[in-house]
Amino acid sequence: MARVRHDGGTVDRGALDRQGRDEDAALGSSLRPRTMDEYIGQGALKRKLRVFVDAAKQRGEALDHVLLHGPPGLGKTTMAQILAAELGVRIHVTSGPAVEHKGILAGHLTALESGDVLFIDEIHRLTPAVEESLYSAMEDGRIDLPVGEGSRARTMPFALAPFTLVGATTRTALLGAPLRERFQIVEGLEYYADDELAAIVRRTAGILGIAITAEAALELGRRSRGTPRIANRLTRRVRDFAQVRGRARIELDDATFALGELGIDAEGLDAIDRRILGAIVELFDGGPVGIEALAATLAEPRDTLEDVYEPFLLQRGFLVRTPRGRQVTRKALAHLGKPVPPRSGGGGSEQGELPL
Ligand code: ADE
Repeated sequence: MARVRHDGGTVDRGALDRQGRDEDAALGSSLRPRTMDEYIGQGALKRKLRVFVDAAKQRGEALDHVLLHGPPGLGKTTMAQILAAELGVRIHVTSGPAVEHKGILAGHLTALESGDVLFIDEIHRLTPAVEESLYSAMEDGRIDLPVGEGSRARTMPFALAPFTLVGATTRTALLGAPLRERFQIVEGLEYYADDELAAIVRRTAGILGIAITAEAALELGRRSRGTPRIANRLTRRVRDFAQVRGRARIELDDATFALGELGIDAEGLDAIDRRILGAIVELFDGGPVGIEALAATLAEPRDTLEDVYEPFLLQRGFLVRTPRGRQVTRKALAHLGKPVPPRSGGGGSEQGELPL
């Protein structure tokens, strides 16, 4: 398994956050860190994965199967590529929607060489039939290949090279227990802290060849929704503004000006975040409102609301989930410039009482 080649394989992605991913791809992935040391943030995760990688290498075995979960743009794909690089193996990249039937999965699995990583992005979108044939591959290192035709059709077991499946999903809850339980390593990626994002912005600006002040980098980091993909996207856009304004280096006022033009407010909320909160306040009296009703009102896919917007709004305390649906918080009302009702002091459990 001492293969040192590290190539991308086929990259085929689902619709979710396609715009961001396409921008990443257009950059020739030059912004992606290639080693654990280059990778900023996710300290606890990196420490654990380093141990698992070192241990597997010492034993000369394939790394156990890894499930990475977390909101889009936090670096799950990047981490999979780094795992392969640090293991010194090749990575084959695909996604749940791209593996349309068992034959495609069999094609990927039989192409694996000893120790290789198979990365399946959006693994929660595999069909039940494909998912089931993945079970025997993960557990017994074998798949059943169809042979013969018509009345002579049957299947033949095929022994796979030892490999590591790295699956990525935005929400573990979407993954059925049978698949989830077949991963020996299950880890979540967390939203990044402002200073980590500032460090990513400085690194990205360096790669793009533009100087940036520490204050400007921190402001961009602060308004990047805890997400490196967004920090990188904003860095590129702010660079455009600074360049056209004739600046040799991005200063704080270039950053705040550009962010204003891009519709990103002081809390890092974008137009869609504000539309979501605004709709709950204006049309649903602050909530609670069910996700289906909200998605229909906003004409946004439910998945996008649940995977991209809601986790951030929850994490920042603009939204809470109650058994009866989503509800805005006092913080959200204050942020939108709406009247904030006084606290009743009655424990906050009565009908219509705002949480937080
Ligand atoms: N670019 C995107 N994510 C990154 C990370 N976590 N560290 C460094 N650069 C990045």
